[in-house]
Amino acid sequence: MEFQNILYHVDKQIAYITINRESKLNALNQLTLEELEASLTSAKGDANVKGVIITGTGDKAFVAGADIKEFVELGQLEAKKLSEKGHYIFTELIQNSKKPVIAAINGFALGGGLELALACHMRFASENAKLGLPEVSLGLLPGYGGTQRLTRLVGRGRALQMILTADMINAEEGLRIGLINEVLPLEDLLKRASEVMSRIFSRSSTAVEAAIDAMNACDDQTRDGYEVEIEHFAHLFLTDDFKEGVAAFLEKRKPNF
Ligand code: COA
Repeated sequence: MEFQNILYHVDKQIAYITINRESKLNALNQLTLEELEASLTSAKGDANVKGVIITGTGDKAFVAGADIKEFVELGQLEAKKLSEKGHYIFTELIQNSKKPVIAAINGFALGGGLELALACHMRFASENAKLGLPEVSLGLLPGYGGTQRLTRLVGRGRALQMILTADMINAEEGLRIGLINEVLPLEDLLKRASEVMSRIFSRSSTAVEAAIDAMNACDDQTRDGYEVEIEHFAHLFLTDDFKEGVAAFLEKRKPNF
């Protein structure tokens, strides 16, 4: 697929989506956001894709936020539409994706960039990564789900400190507070994210999908997460993957899902 600000390729059933605006530190302007939506939609519909890794071009930035220059032209209505669009992409196409989505944070993940990473199921970061939600320094607040997802991930006190001070933290601190899963040298970042993805692929994709959905129910006040878990648990007993997984265990062999 050809995009202007996104590189997209599929390798070993992983769709790699690379935000490619290096001269602007991969800031998400509206075109990039639209292309992100299109590339995620493509990954979603491609039976050959089992998971997605999102990263940024270069060794300086994952995504340094929404494009601040475009903000100048926005009125209240346009700002609302932009925020809603970001919410749709991050929630429906990333967080609610049935296929696992991993953020490989290769540098600055600020504002909408950190919110993009927060919507992903896991976050791996390079040692040089810097993480922050600096919106209040611009007279704004995080508008792509950051106030909610950061709070749930690291707890209210730490999230409030990051959002109200607008200060950045480094990757090690991100690891310490549970914002980051693992910190790696930049040159190992994509390899490690791909390794973890392949590990997930070796499991039952039906069960992985059900687990993501049940865990997402935690964030969804319209669903009772415990009920969702019970329903999925029961339903999985009907699947071929369950039969194969249990048979493989009893026969002391690897399952063939
Ligand atoms: N929106 C638009 N352009 C951005 C951007 C953003 N969020 N972040 C960086 N850029 C652009 C800069 O304007 C600059 O473009 P130019 O060369 O045309 O002037 C280019 O990317 C390089 O950035 P620069 O600021 O020169 O790099 P730096 O190393 O000095 O600083 C940052 C890096 C990340 C600290 C700094 O770019 C920054 O604070 N960016 C904004 C972060 C932010 O507030 N994000 C939240 C937005 S809601």
